[in-house]
Amino acid sequence: MQLKRIVLGVTGGVAAYKAAELARLLVKEGIDVQVVCTSAARHFVGPATFQALTGHPVFTDLWDERVDNGMAHIDLSRGADAIVVAPASADFLAKLAQGRADDLLSTLCLARDCPLLVAPAMNRQMWESPATQRNAAQLLLDGVSLIGPDSGEQACGETGFGRMLEAEALVEAIVARFQPKQLNGLKVLVTAGPTFEAIDAVRGITNPSSGRMGYAVARAALEAGAEVTLITGRTCLTPPREARVINILGAQQMLTEVEKEADATDIFISVAAVADYYVLNPSEQKIKKDAHILTLELAPNPDILANISSRPKPPFCVGFAAESENMEEYAELKRRRKHLPLIVANDVREAVGAEDVQLILLDEAGRHVLEKADKLTQARRLITHVAQLYNTHYQ
Ligand code: C5P
Repeated sequence: MQLKRIVLGVTGGVAAYKAAELARLLVKEGIDVQVVCTSAARHFVGPATFQALTGHPVFTDLWDERVDNGMAHIDLSRGADAIVVAPASADFLAKLAQGRADDLLSTLCLARDCPLLVAPAMNRQMWESPATQRNAAQLLLDGVSLIGPDSGEQACGETGFGRMLEAEALVEAIVARFQPKQLNGLKVLVTAGPTFEAIDAVRGITNPSSGRMGYAVARAALEAGAEVTLITGRTCLTPPREARVINILGAQQMLTEVEKEADATDIFISVAAVADYYVLNPSEQKIKKDAHILTLELAPNPDILANISSRPKPPFCVGFAAESENMEEYAELKRRRKHLPLIVANDVREAVGAEDVQLILLDEAGRHVLEKADKLTQARRLITHVAQLYNTHYQ
């Protein structure tokens, strides 16, 4: 990732409190963050908070004597990979659109040679006003990236567009902006999470898949410029904001949804932990406890991935094989049996629910080890590999 240094501009608005969390999450991503506040922003969040979170003093003044050569407007953004203004008030958008430079932050924005990303935050009527809309349109024409705003409840009590995105969604969008666009214009379908096969009205058979790997793959594909549909079983995760999400419960429902999408899909990545069996004749009512032995009759579920990969004109299909023994051998057998150009093998004992995993990619050319790392890093590496294979064999 080329995103190593960010100047985080904070302007005056209630959403400034979210900028503290944004600074924290950016630092957690390994990014060096230099905060520059407008004087209005200092009424909402004190510099001590940002200084503690980023490890750098906060600047506001064009004439700050802490900058050696008195050129704060140039020095602070020198070497920065991006300037991110979050929250960006209506007034600040107007300033940017006009190219004004009457304080440190607006001057930095004008004197920059790196991308500028802004996250608008204001009352619904201020956002909808013709002047703000004109300014936002002008900024887009000038090459500025607008992140949001979102719709929702506002500090003034109204509901509508103008809310700043939550810090996690902002980080997702900022990081995505700097990832290589290896899947630009392609449609990627991802399945994720566990399936749930009903036994009765309240009980079912499921598995401990957290959905984290599948959600990370969906996010990495979005970052690479793909249009992503995520078909997911029940998880506790928030899906990537830009993904089209379809929620399912059982394997048969997942198959129905995958089949609807398959024709319009370029790349299908099947990460879901699909139950091999479903319960024949699940009870509509909750089964009452009695002293007898209860027998469940199970029937095999369809193999969703094999179903799609055996089509006459399949999308580029990628499988995941979680194994507890003979990992590579079993995974390679599955790859051949399901006619997959690529399968990802992982050790079920370490992969399910874990933070860091090692993955082994098996394709026609052999094996490629992705050394242990967090799931998002692995997902990005996997997407790079998928893009290379897709571009050499399918374009
Ligand atoms: O369960 P198995 O090890 O065969 O899973 C390998 C791959 O097949 C995974 O990518 C999984 O998502 C997919 N699969 C499927 N439908 C099933 C079982 C597995 O799509 N019923």
